[in-house]
Amino acid sequence: MCGIVGILSNNEVTPTILKVLKKLEYRGYDSAGIATIFNNKIKRQRAKGKIENLIKQIHRNDLPGNIGIGHTRWATHGVPSKDNAHPHQKGSVVGVHNGIIENFRELKEELLIKGYQFSSETDTEVIVQLCSYYIDQGISNKDAFLKTIDRLEGAFALCFMFDDDDKNLFISKRGAPLVIGFGKNEVYIGSDAVSLTSLIESVIFLDENDWAIVSKNEILIFDQKGNKVQRQKKIVELNNDIISKGNYHHFMLKEIHEQPEVFGYATSGFIDYKLQKINMLNEVKELHGINKIILVGCGTAYYACAVAKYWLEKFVKISVEIDVASEFRYRETYFTKKEYAIFVSQSGETADTLAALRKAKGKVKKIISIVNVTESSIARESDFVLPIKAGPEIGVASTKAFTNQLAVLACLTIKFANIKGLLSDKKNSELIDSLISIPGVISDILSNSKKFQDFAKKLVLSSNVLFLGRGILYPLALEAALKLKEISYIHAEGYPSGELKHGPIALIDSNMPVICFAPYNELFEKTISNVEEVLARNGNILLITDEEGFDLLPTNQFPVIKLPKISNFIQPIIYAIPSQLIAYYTGLYKGTDIDQPRNLAKSVTVE
Ligand code: G6P
Repeated sequence: MCGIVGILSNNEVTPTILKVLKKLEYRGYDSAGIATIFNNKIKRQRAKGKIENLIKQIHRNDLPGNIGIGHTRWATHGVPSKDNAHPHQKGSVVGVHNGIIENFRELKEELLIKGYQFSSETDTEVIVQLCSYYIDQGISNKDAFLKTIDRLEGAFALCFMFDDDDKNLFISKRGAPLVIGFGKNEVYIGSDAVSLTSLIESVIFLDENDWAIVSKNEILIFDQKGNKVQRQKKIVELNNDIISKGNYHHFMLKEIHEQPEVFGYATSGFIDYKLQKINMLNEVKELHGINKIILVGCGTAYYACAVAKYWLEKFVKISVEIDVASEFRYRETYFTKKEYAIFVSQSGETADTLAALRKAKGKVKKIISIVNVTESSIARESDFVLPIKAGPEIGVASTKAFTNQLAVLACLTIKFANIKGLLSDKKNSELIDSLISIPGVISDILSNSKKFQDFAKKLVLSSNVLFLGRGILYPLALEAALKLKEISYIHAEGYPSGELKHGPIALIDSNMPVICFAPYNELFEKTISNVEEVLARNGNILLITDEEGFDLLPTNQFPVIKLPKISNFIQPIIYAIPSQLIAYYTGLYKGTDIDQPRNLAKSVTVE
């Protein structure tokens, strides 16, 4: 969480820092700040709230200078406030930080005893004050910076400046992302490459524990031991249009509408259309030694894992364990080296997922990651990387990344089932064809959003909403509930329909909408009997089914959305679209901040 930026230029840097901060806002948006150096003086402005507040506060010439740093914050230590906003400054040192310093209390204690005083509750100020303390001992900026990072425990990406040096930025990366970008005449530091698109032509992704001294003419990168190292410069291929809202009011709506196209990117990388086979993990020739697949993720990515459990157990006939990363990393797990562990993450930087991966490393047969950002830490630490190719996802609530994660997990299921010889040619072709049909089906659904708007209008005044699903649609009920609470702030729960009578049925009354996913499949009749149970208690049912299910509905006493007829295999992918649209329009009618809901952040790089 938190976005950091640094710029070295021949021109004034403040306007560009603000532009980059806007693009980094997805990482956190409770306060923001900028510092520049001009005539050996640190100039600094900070504001509570979004970048807009900072922009309004800065007057012309407030922050002159050709070197500067900026930060947009997602609070970890200390409330969102101007005092806690970065950059933090002490004496000649000013710095921004993303991450969590685990030993900040000890360090603070040490500095307090020495008479240092603090003006914020943050762990970041401790780093800056520590560096300033070393400067006070009469050592060089570089040595002070190094001594400081040496003392830090935890995760951090840092970008520091010193008032007597307007030529160099001092940076360090451990457990949080940091890149160096190269424009025509400028050098940039950023939490990601996407926020620098349109400004840079090439980029260096730092390795874990790298630190560097960055000037316009020279980049000196060192590893943890202080050895000078070279890191590969990569050409940036991202196009700036991808990260603008285009004609949409929100990134979320744009990203929902991108799904037909980007779903095709995910599958076309893996489907050999001519041979009707899945082309991925071709190094894996047999699964004889493997007795379990472990799937781990956070938030929406975890729900993608939950869907995959149903697919893998059904088609690959293998035992599948799923967990949220924050539990998996601390749970006492029993590994036998006969497992594949799969980590699913849009950003590839989620701290808990990365820690879970590191826990499994060396103890399972292979680590596979399914990520959107192929240069991410999770990707780099995996044996195999399966990219979801969704393009940058800016809306905090995940939409196209979810369906593309499912695309890749569906391909993986077919591949593993084939390796085990469990699919007839006919079934194999049927499954592949159903994946190929998805973009068309999604386009169809998106072309008529009116019915989802009508559903959403029924939810706006509710305080609670229940989502029900059975079998492979149960994880979709969970995902739909997550989406609704993130975007509309309405309390929502996802429940397996069959579990209703073991508790939640007590909540049913005419005020609580119950949205039921009831596609026509082997559990349809059972789901409908759960619907009857709700109706018998005056419940307020809204049902989503398909053409076949619609024709079999016993009553017409409730609103129904009818989706096109689709194969059972792809039902969880298709039902993601109604979940997203219902959440989006409910948020829209409630007037919430859809792309940046309160308290959330897109990339959770702290524990
Ligand atoms: C945050 C985001 C969610 C996302 C989750 C996992 O909570 O708001 O949209 O699903 O992190 O992120 P990842 O990048 O690992 O998929």
